[in-house]
Amino acid sequence: MKLLVCGGAGFIGSTFARQRLQEHGDEVTVLDKLTYAGREENLRDVAGDARFRFLRGAIEDREAVQAAITASAAEAIVNFAAETHVDRSIAEPDAFVRTHALGTYVLLDCARAAGLRYVQVSTDEVYGSIEQGTFTEQSPLRPSSPYSATKAGADLLVQSYFHTYGMPVVICRGSNNYGPYQYPEKLIPLMILNAIHGDPLPVYGDGMQVRNWIHASDFAAAIGHVLEHGEAGEVYNAGGPDEEANIVVVRRIIELAGASASLIEHVRDRPGHDLRYSLSSAKVRALGWSPRVRFSDGLEQTVAWYRENPSWWEPIRSGDYRAYYERQYGRSLHS
Ligand code: NAD
Ligand code: TYD
Repeated sequence: MKLLVCGGAGFIGSTFARQRLQEHGDEVTVLDKLTYAGREENLRDVAGDARFRFLRGAIEDREAVQAAITASAAEAIVNFAAETHVDRSIAEPDAFVRTHALGTYVLLDCARAAGLRYVQVSTDEVYGSIEQGTFTEQSPLRPSSPYSATKAGADLLVQSYFHTYGMPVVICRGSNNYGPYQYPEKLIPLMILNAIHGDPLPVYGDGMQVRNWIHASDFAAAIGHVLEHGEAGEVYNAGGPDEEANIVVVRRIIELAGASASLIEHVRDRPGHDLRYSLSSAKVRALGWSPRVRFSDGLEQTVAWYRENPSWWEPIRSGDYRAYYERQYGRSLHS
C-alpha cells in the first residue's frame, strides 16, 4: 500500500512508519510539522529506504497536504498529527485547537477530494475517566482536558465525513502508550530519565491514578490492522493488556534503573486529573488483532532502551525541554 502518515515523526507515528516499511512492504510518506515533539531522528533507521519519503509541513496547511498527497500517490492517510500532552493543553490550549480542529478538517477535506481511505488515530481519553468497568466503543464521549476535548471534536468531525459524504473513514482509539522514542514529558520516560540522573520523581497527588498501558508496537499494529480490515464509519478501541497505578509504575522504574525510592516526591495534583482509564479491545480483537507485549516485560525493555540510547535523549534534555520542565514543575533538572 502507498501511505501518507501525518505526524509520523512523533513517538507512535514513527513506530507505525517503521512497522509498515519493514513488516508490510508499504511505501510510506511522512508529513510532519516537526513541533517540539517531532524529530527526524525518530526515523533515522528508515531514512535510506527507497520506499520512504519525509516532507515537512502542517496538516492545517492545505497546500502542504495537497502536495504530500500528490508526491506520495497515497491510497490512504493515517493521521497521528496532534498535540499530545495533557499538562501542556492545560497551560496553553491554543495549538491543540488549531491542530485537532482545523488540521483534521483540512486533512479530511483533501482526503475526500482525492478519494482516499482515512484512519484517525485517537485516544481513550475522549471517554473521560471510569472508576469501575471498562469503556467500549458505545461509551459516551466525556472528555475532561483541552487535549481530550479537542481530540473528541476531531473524532466527531471524522465521523461526520462518513455520515455526510460516505467517505471511508475509520477511528482507532488507543490507551496509554509507552516504549522507545517517547518524548520525556510523559510519565514513563520522564521517570526513567529522572531516575537515571538522580532527579526527584514528581508523582501527581497520591499516585493512585490508574492507566491501561499498551506498548507502542502493539498500538501501531492495531492501527495497521484497522487500516486493512476495519469497516468504514466504525470506531475500534485498542487497549493494552495491563492496568497499573502510577505509583506502582514509578516504584518499578526505580527498581529497574537501580535508583533510590527516596527520589519519589508527591507534588501538586494535575487540575481535573482523570482517575482511571480502561479500554475494552473486544471489537478489534474480533478482527484478528491482539496485543503481544505484557507491561512488565515492555517496561523492562523500555528502561533498557533509554539507558542504551543517551544520544537520542541528550539533545532533548539539554534543550527546550529544560525550560518546559522548570515551568511545569517549578524546579530545574540536575544535568
Ligand atoms: P507525539 O507528540 O510524540 O507526536 C506527535 C507528532 O505530530 C509530532 O511528530 C509532531 O511534530 C506532529 N504534529 C503536531 N502537530 C502537527 C501539525 N499541525 N501538522 C503536522 N504534524 C504535526 O505523539 P504520539 O504520542 O506519537 O501520539 C500520536 C497520536 O496518537 C496522537 O494523535 C495521539 O492523540 C494518539 N494517542 C497517543 C497516545 C499516547 O499515550 N501517547 C495514546 C493514544 C492515542
Ligand atoms: P501522562 O504520561 O501525561 O499521560 P496521560 O495524562 O495522557 O494519561 O500521565 C500518565 C499518568 O501519570 C497521569 O495519571 C498523570 C501522571 N503523571 C505524574 O504523576 N507525574 C508526572 O510528572 C507526569 C508527566 C504524569
